[in-house]
Amino acid sequence: MSRHAKINDASSFWMPFTPNRDFAADPRLIVAADGMYYTSDDGRQILDATAGLWCVNAGHNDPLIVEAVQRQVATLDYAPHFNFGTPQAFELSTRLAGLFPEGLDHVFYTNSGSESVDTALKIALHYHRMRGDGARTRLIGRERGYHGTGFGGISVGGIVNNRRHFGTLLNGVDHLRHTHDPARNAFSRGCPEHGVELAEDLERLCALHDPSTIAAVIVEPMAGSTGVLLPPKGYLARLREICDRHGILLIFDEVITGYGRLGKMTAAEYFGVTPDIIATAKGLTNGVVPMGAVAVSREIYASAMERADTPIELFHGYTYSAHPLAVAAALATLESYRANEMFARVEALAPKWENALHELRGRPHVADIRNLGLVGAIELESRPGAPGARGWQAMKLAWEEGLMIRVTGDIIALSPPFIITEAQVDGLFDRLADILDRLD
Ligand SMILES: Cc1ncc(COP(=O)(O)O)c(C=O)c1O
Repeated sequence: MSRHAKINDASSFWMPFTPNRDFAADPRLIVAADGMYYTSDDGRQILDATAGLWCVNAGHNDPLIVEAVQRQVATLDYAPHFNFGTPQAFELSTRLAGLFPEGLDHVFYTNSGSESVDTALKIALHYHRMRGDGARTRLIGRERGYHGTGFGGISVGGIVNNRRHFGTLLNGVDHLRHTHDPARNAFSRGCPEHGVELAEDLERLCALHDPSTIAAVIVEPMAGSTGVLLPPKGYLARLREICDRHGILLIFDEVITGYGRLGKMTAAEYFGVTPDIIATAKGLTNGVVPMGAVAVSREIYASAMERADTPIELFHGYTYSAHPLAVAAALATLESYRANEMFARVEALAPKWENALHELRGRPHVADIRNLGLVGAIELESRPGAPGARGWQAMKLAWEEGLMIRVTGDIIALSPPFIITEAQVDGLFDRLADILDRLD
């Protein structure tokens, strides 16, 4: 059977965030996965340098998770969580509350990062209304932010292609300036030195709108999908201070940083800055079953419980909130992270990762290299008049060479499963060096 025949009718599956016509002409099909590797339909082993889409933190086919999901589906396939409950969902919430920063001890379940973000934004608005401060309706995001694809997420998000085709979005939203400053910070190792003052942009927005109209600020503590932008040293703490000064809730979108990517359970823990709400997904279930979790502060939860004017305290939820298969996957994933000391492993591997990545400095077209935890980015100079073309070529060459990498425009983003070995790190960067040398 030809590979074109295998993708059947390319027009039936409208692929997400993919140039569909290009894919139909040049498909990349995956048929199996184990550990650090995918198997392509032509039988090649492809090193997963992106943990799928930043989600397969424990590696593929983790027996703990696979067996837990298999057991669960044969025991309780589905149960609603509107007015009913399952013991495991409560158990998972207790486990998560013990892992999120002190004080963030109530958890609302969703099915994705986008839903977690929209849930977090809605809870922020709800909180202020419950407190009789319902004039606080503005939501502040940040340029270049990625918060998924719901209307809330694209409204506070700051990536123009994700916004420009979809009308006027939510009103009352404004954006902080982004923190990317290659002129001062190129080739930083870890968080950049310069740019803490960019947090003061929040004061500018407070002066413009009056803080009494602002409900919440949402940022990715480390921005991933936009091409790995790191917070300047001190930036997140400064944002926290300004939010506190003005009674504004701080939301961290930890959809990619949650569950160990920086070597701690959350970026909040890594940076020592505690927000009021944390939105997560992806690594919660190792990507095995879709699920998100939003952790909120005790005060936010208590205020909903104590001040609600209806028996149902929050008119929000999903048919699949706390889906039994997702809960089983999440419990097993947390157990795998714990039993295999995976977050400590990331912490231990990070210096080796950083050194190997920065060895690529000086290769053709490399304009910047960034890293934190087990995350890396290689920013390439764009071809004149063809932004993104060079990154796209790198992705395709990598696939041919047995590597899955992620590109955002001309930025290569790397975020392998935590089980990657030192030898695999070396092999990954050797192959990437070769690919960079071959780029037009
Ligand atoms: C920071 C962040 N927020 C939200 C999302 C959206 O998650 P999902 O694709 O599961 O809706 C992503 C996905 O990459 C993300 O990186």
